[in-house]
Amino acid sequence: MTAKLRIEDLTHTFKGTQDIDVLDGLSITIRDGEFVTLLGPSGSGKSTIFNLIGGLIEPDQGDIFIDGKRVNGTRGNISYLPQQDSLLPWRTIEDNLVLVQEINGSVDRKRARKWLKRAGLGGYEDSYPNTLSGGMRQRVAFIRSLLSPQQLMLLDEPFGALDELTRLDMQDWLLKMWETDRRSVLFITHSIEEAIYMSDRILILSDKPAKIIKEIQVPFERPRHHDITLEDTFTKLRREIYLLLREGDSQ
Ligand SMILES: Nc1ncnc2c1ncn2[C@@H]1O[C@H](COP(=O)(O)OP(=O)(O)O)[C@@H](O)[C@H]1O
Ligand SMILES: [Mg+2]
Repeated sequence: MTAKLRIEDLTHTFKGTQDIDVLDGLSITIRDGEFVTLLGPSGSGKSTIFNLIGGLIEPDQGDIFIDGKRVNGTRGNISYLPQQDSLLPWRTIEDNLVLVQEINGSVDRKRARKWLKRAGLGGYEDSYPNTLSGGMRQRVAFIRSLLSPQQLMLLDEPFGALDELTRLDMQDWLLKMWETDRRSVLFITHSIEEAIYMSDRILILSDKPAKIIKEIQVPFERPRHHDITLEDTFTKLRREIYLLLREGDSQ
């Protein structure tokens, strides 16, 4: 089977008065329907990896394939959810939801309303973003990504700006949404617990230039519940990852 995403030997340096080597021979494969997390220290090059996959920047070396097609430097192949909600304040929630569809040329308002309801936000169609909480706005932004036809989702610390309780709620909510529409997800976080709780597989990155220090297959069944965070297997894994990140830091 063709991988959903295949990154081969990606190398990138930001040129300036001081060159910054961000990636040096990075390879990643994501299968169809898999939830994979990039976990690494801040500044290690995670968002740069997303910008490369999204075609916003072109790598110095290496190749990016989506569904087997080489996409280096081309846009429009992924759906992307940034850390801060990216809703347009002058458009209603529903109009925000169909924005990506407008760009893609086929608007389906019925489907947008159905997903809004499924997301627990029925009744907010005509509201404006500034009347919703941060968590609600991020739900809308996520639904908008689900409504786009691209089957690969890149989520860059999507809960980073939310308070801790909202964040836990959002993790469960996102997993529930994802279970009904199993897209391939590449998720970025610097939270070890979040990585374990959400993912099928975790790729632990070193400080820049980012390399994969270790790949971890997460052993928990789905659907997940927050109870697992109290299990021995969970706490052991958390400790293992913590030590790996700390070692990676001191190299
Ligand atoms: N457009 C850019 N130009 C120059 N340097 C950049 C650019 N984008 C990111 N960097 C640098 O590359 C490194 C990795 O950044 P980033 O990918 O944002 O890390 P992360 O998302 O893991 O926190 C940082 O040192 C950052 O300052
Ligand atoms: Mg980042």
